[in-house]
Amino acid sequence: MSGNGHNLTPGVRMMEEETELERVENMKSDKQGTDGQKRYRERFGRHADEFRWLYMELYDNGSMFAELCDHMERFYAERKADLKSADLEREAHKDWYKQNHMLGMMFYIDNFAGNMQGVKSRLDYIEKCNVNYIHLMPFLDTTEGRSDGGYAVSDFRKVQEKLGTMEDLEDLTDACHKREIYVCMDFVMNHTSEDHEWARRARRGEGEYMSRYFFYDSDEIPGQYEKTVPQVFPTTAPGNFTWLPDAGHYVMTTFYPYQWDLNYRNPRVFNEMMYNFLYLANRGIDIIRIDAVPYIWKELHTSCRNLKQVHTIVRMMRMISEIVCPGVLLLGEVVMEPEKVVPYFGTVEKPECHMLYNVTTMATTWHTVATRDVRLLKKQLDIVNSLPKEYIFLNYLRCHDDIGWGLDYGTLLAEGMEERSHKQYLNDYFQGYAGASNSRGELYNADPVTGDARFCGTTASMCGIEKAGSEQGTGGAERAGDGQETGGAERAGGNQTAGAMEKAIRLDIMLHAYMFMQSGIPVLYSGDEIGQINDYTYKEDPGKAADSRYLHRGRMDWTLAEKIWDSSTVAGKLFQGLSQLEQLRKREKVFASNADAWTVETGERAVLCMGRYLEGVKVLGLFNFSEYDKEVVLSQADGPYVDMLSGEERELIPIVIPAYGFYYLKKK
Ligand code: GLC
Repeated sequence: MSGNGHNLTPGVRMMEEETELERVENMKSDKQGTDGQKRYRERFGRHADEFRWLYMELYDNGSMFAELCDHMERFYAERKADLKSADLEREAHKDWYKQNHMLGMMFYIDNFAGNMQGVKSRLDYIEKCNVNYIHLMPFLDTTEGRSDGGYAVSDFRKVQEKLGTMEDLEDLTDACHKREIYVCMDFVMNHTSEDHEWARRARRGEGEYMSRYFFYDSDEIPGQYEKTVPQVFPTTAPGNFTWLPDAGHYVMTTFYPYQWDLNYRNPRVFNEMMYNFLYLANRGIDIIRIDAVPYIWKELHTSCRNLKQVHTIVRMMRMISEIVCPGVLLLGEVVMEPEKVVPYFGTVEKPECHMLYNVTTMATTWHTVATRDVRLLKKQLDIVNSLPKEYIFLNYLRCHDDIGWGLDYGTLLAEGMEERSHKQYLNDYFQGYAGASNSRGELYNADPVTGDARFCGTTASMCGIEKAGSEQGTGGAERAGDGQETGGAERAGGNQTAGAMEKAIRLDIMLHAYMFMQSGIPVLYSGDEIGQINDYTYKEDPGKAADSRYLHRGRMDWTLAEKIWDSSTVAGKLFQGLSQLEQLRKREKVFASNADAWTVETGERAVLCMGRYLEGVKVLGLFNFSEYDKEVVLSQADGPYVDMLSGEERELIPIVIPAYGFYYLKKK
């Protein structure tokens, strides 16, 4: 076989004997090339039977399978040497991403640093944040004003002009790798933009391209789908189909009308999207976030979510990446209830995603903030802790999306909390209308029919930093940057509002401390490390005004970031508070994902206790979700313990946890 990747034999022949010509060519090629081909064949051989079987089961199309195999080999041949050696190293250390040194941060390139080159020039800051994994929010070509924050891709091989070029991307991933920073990007595979070439050709009536989407010339079938398919954006984009007057057809649009659902029944769609996936992986991407993956297979009379074919596709993706680029991880975006999320890990023998978002834990965390009652969270953590340690969750407090209140309502009902009224309470609470709330934020996609609504806001605003800042007479949200700078409790001299700011900061740091204590990979939402508050300016932009998620997608405030070492500022307090925890997490192996993790009953509703154990080291974390000091007596009090932050020894019977405070305790 040729080593240059352009003169390829069909992949299905990889298992067969080499031809005489190929053998001579191989002998001529350097040793690395020969080893590489051998390695490729080994990898392919490991998966060949299952891969072919699954593909044929789904598509029953041998020539398309052969084409896919051919292209895979070409992408392997084209993969750069440094990426291939990273693949090898990661294959040899399969648990490389399960260690306690991992800390992620996600950001929009333009908000964070203008463009790709700007991000490169900010890598020092990223390192200062103790971050070694960056998630670059969607950066592929899209149409301004019809982009859903970049989640409507019009070209999978082109970077948005304002952000840079593919060369800039490779330059950035290269620079990151030199600093041992991993790079994550979104692979938006459920749909394309209506401006994607396929969509444009489909709109013009080219049958080949229409068959890559779901086109209907009457409302009969769309109407049948609507009976069983729920709505993702009931207010901002009602319905699951869009009528195209120029084409005289309906097209399926689960998300926005300009995001056309791809038809994965068509093997051409699957193959081409896999080529896009491998093309992007070869640009130096380490983690591929498979966007909206539960939606990718559609079937009449179903909810069109989590169908079994979705799992076949994800399993094939996993095999494709293990064959071509085994250093690349798949991160599934499955924003669903726990029993729907976990199957996306596959099984230990037949894995699908490497990592998944810990979405229910995230939503339950904010429920706990609003109720000061840790019982549901404890139960949720017990579920997660009981899963195999191979399953890696991505833990987070906030991300670019809204918070959908996906809680365990069965359990809450037993406590007298009914779903609809509880969601209403949470939304009221976080808007600052109900309970002892200092939060600020806005609703998202409030559905007048179901009464359902989701919530938007930054961590800092939800913790009370925005409100405390505005109460100090600094002019509210628009000028809260000033408020934040003057918001240090000491400076304000013990008055009530300074107390409010102090409390808000404590809550914010406590929530991060609790998040860092969980197994998995913690991911910060950019700006949270300096306490950035909601940005209301999106309302002035007609392209954004209808989508309140832009409330928490503000521009990085670099003047605030200059204050990170000034501990009299809010930004400084937060940054340093988090930094101490992040460094501790990186130092102590007990935070690795293979540690035992459990929760402990504290007898106090507002206090959560989490335990971790690895190789003779035991730690307990105590987290007070209330604004009052709380005393607890732990039944597991096998002290003495040492406070991991202050180094002081602490007896556990009893122990007082200050309002919104926490302890990390290590058994002596
Ligand atoms: C994912 C993204 C979200 C986007 C949607 C449609 O859920 O996180 O921001 O709107 O996919 O692509």
